[in-house]
Amino acid sequence: MTSPHPSGQDLAAKQGQYLARIEGAATLEALEEVRLEALGKQGDITQLMKSLGGMSPEERKEKGEAFNQIRVVLQDAIGAKRTRLEKEALQESLSKEWEDVTLPGANLQKGRIHPLSQAMFEALEILGDMGFYVAEGPDIEDDFHNFTALNIPELHPARQDQDTFYFPKDAKGERLLLRTHTSPVQVRTMMNKKPPIRIVAPGRVYRSDYDQTHTPVFHQIEGLYIDKDIHMGHLKGCLETFCQRFFECPDLPVRFRPGFFPFTEPSAEIDIGCGRKDGRLVIGGGEDWLEILGAGMVHRKVLENCGVDPDEYQGFAFGMGVERLAMLKYGLTDLRAFFESDVRWLEHYGKSPFAGLMGGVL
Ligand code: PHE
Repeated sequence: MTSPHPSGQDLAAKQGQYLARIEGAATLEALEEVRLEALGKQGDITQLMKSLGGMSPEERKEKGEAFNQIRVVLQDAIGAKRTRLEKEALQESLSKEWEDVTLPGANLQKGRIHPLSQAMFEALEILGDMGFYVAEGPDIEDDFHNFTALNIPELHPARQDQDTFYFPKDAKGERLLLRTHTSPVQVRTMMNKKPPIRIVAPGRVYRSDYDQTHTPVFHQIEGLYIDKDIHMGHLKGCLETFCQRFFECPDLPVRFRPGFFPFTEPSAEIDIGCGRKDGRLVIGGGEDWLEILGAGMVHRKVLENCGVDPDEYQGFAFGMGVERLAMLKYGLTDLRAFFESDVRWLEHYGKSPFAGLMGGVL
């Protein structure tokens, strides 16, 4: 009777065949096929190993050793062949694929800081150094905060429809509006906080206007300082220093001219000295003056309207247009370009982010 289990001779033949097929495998896929056939779950050798369970102890000992040996031999041969094939594949791809490291890199476009943002940060940095805190308020305001509390009379032209963007009347007959200046933030601050108050309010403002020097949205910074014994001298020193630092010109002439605002008394318009050189505007020196700020001592009525006792507290306020500051500082001529989002313009006039905002702190 022949044994149902392969003889030593059969095993040697099997091993020889598998070794030849392993050696002959030209690709990793072909090698994997042979491995599955021999050593996979249903593989030839795996089946042999499983058959050990049904053998007598003596036979199991003998065959077990033989089966295991062939398993180990095939495993080692497959491992060695796989390493060789992988190496060859790597060599092949290295010789075919290569990078030309001399090609110029992809040109990344660098972002630029919009001149308006730059001017805003520079102005706020200087005012922050002087001890002013930033305060903010809503863009959509009501009549009281934008006009009435600021002592702007009922018939003042600024209230007329052509200057102010109004929303339709609500059910109570009131109409909200887009703030025409940042001064309502001084009203809100005084109504909510006890003096001393020292704030600057940067933000968007809206007026129905459009030409080379006016756009329907622009930006202002409002300043407010309320305390005991604050006088015009403080206002003068503060704005002189501000202008000289902002325009980076320590001896910049700064002139206070009498002006009028309903919410300040006395009021002043502030000019800086400038001249022309080869047809170009030069800030500092020269014969000419440029108006850049409005300011004054906060009107008693405004203090009263906001719940501040004018006999105990006084203070000053000032307001400036940030676009105008930016145009003068950076030599820009058309305000409308600020809002046209032309990247070529921004590329040209934008500031390098590497120079840093806030004087290089950021
Ligand atoms: N609110 C004024 C304007 O928009 C500027 C201003 C602010 C003037 C504070 C004086 C004091 O023109």
